[in-house]
Amino acid sequence: MAISEALEKPRKMPRTKARPRIRKTRKSKVKLDIHPASSALGAEILGIDLRERQSPGTIAAMRDALNEHSLLLFRDQDISPDQHVAFSRRFGKLEHHVLAEYLLPDHPEIYVLSNIRKKGKTIGRAGVGEYWHSDLQYLAKPSLGSIMHAIEVPEVGGDTMFANQVAAYDALSDGMKELLGGLRLVNHFAKARHYSAQVGYARPFSDEELKKTPPVVHPVVRTHPETGRKALYVSPGFALYFEGMTEAESRPILEFIYKHTINPRFIYRHQWRPHDLVFWDNRSLMHYAVQDYDHAKDRRHMQRTTISGDKPF
Ligand code: SIN
Repeated sequence: MAISEALEKPRKMPRTKARPRIRKTRKSKVKLDIHPASSALGAEILGIDLRERQSPGTIAAMRDALNEHSLLLFRDQDISPDQHVAFSRRFGKLEHHVLAEYLLPDHPEIYVLSNIRKKGKTIGRAGVGEYWHSDLQYLAKPSLGSIMHAIEVPEVGGDTMFANQVAAYDALSDGMKELLGGLRLVNHFAKARHYSAQVGYARPFSDEELKKTPPVVHPVVRTHPETGRKALYVSPGFALYFEGMTEAESRPILEFIYKHTINPRFIYRHQWRPHDLVFWDNRSLMHYAVQDYDHAKDRRHMQRTTISGDKPF
């Protein structure tokens, strides 16, 4: 469906029953060497070699750390695609991205983001993600988290920014929490097409790809299924309008949310080094890939797995 068509009038979206279930797990006894990365979010974990299989206790401790910090950074992890997939699978089932041509041959769980050219075309999707979003928010069951391995990065630039949406929710007034808590938002992958065209590096999505990703409705405020904490769940990259409202009625509220959610106080900006592995929680963060480097000269080559998640409630 064309985005203009989607914006014409509010349509009642089919309501599927979400199962509000918080799975609080027992805290792991394994102690990790954890160092907060910023006051907003994120932590670096030291002393881990991800080429090795981690014990169940260590995986549980990483899950605890992810719930607490929303983003985990492991430096100097020169891992193979097999090791990347094996580590990611410890946290859940893995997605195969809808943009199938960018999946790593023999490893369809790995989505390649790259501006490196071979035989006249890039070996991954280039120049994307330059808009605030949470991965796969356009699916009925969006992603739990993403694990990105930086293989080559520009000397300067190509950072990724992350915004803490639990903190953004907490900072709202009670009145605004009540208003937003009652709203549901129509999300559509087609919206991101606008941003792809804008940056001019990536090809637009095909109608076939868009057919596989019809509009979905999610609550504006979601509850983290493991911590029980509430987070704003509105990405300018995919948001169309509130269920039961017109696009014109929705716009001022959306504009307020877009501005509020990216207050610098909620943001951590990651400057990539080769073989950083960053694991972020899509249920509590949005991110933005800064395209401020020279795509003709500066190579940026990343591989990402995306862990399946639950229906937001
Ligand atoms: C993305 O997952 O949107 C890409 C992030 C990045 O390339 O930094």
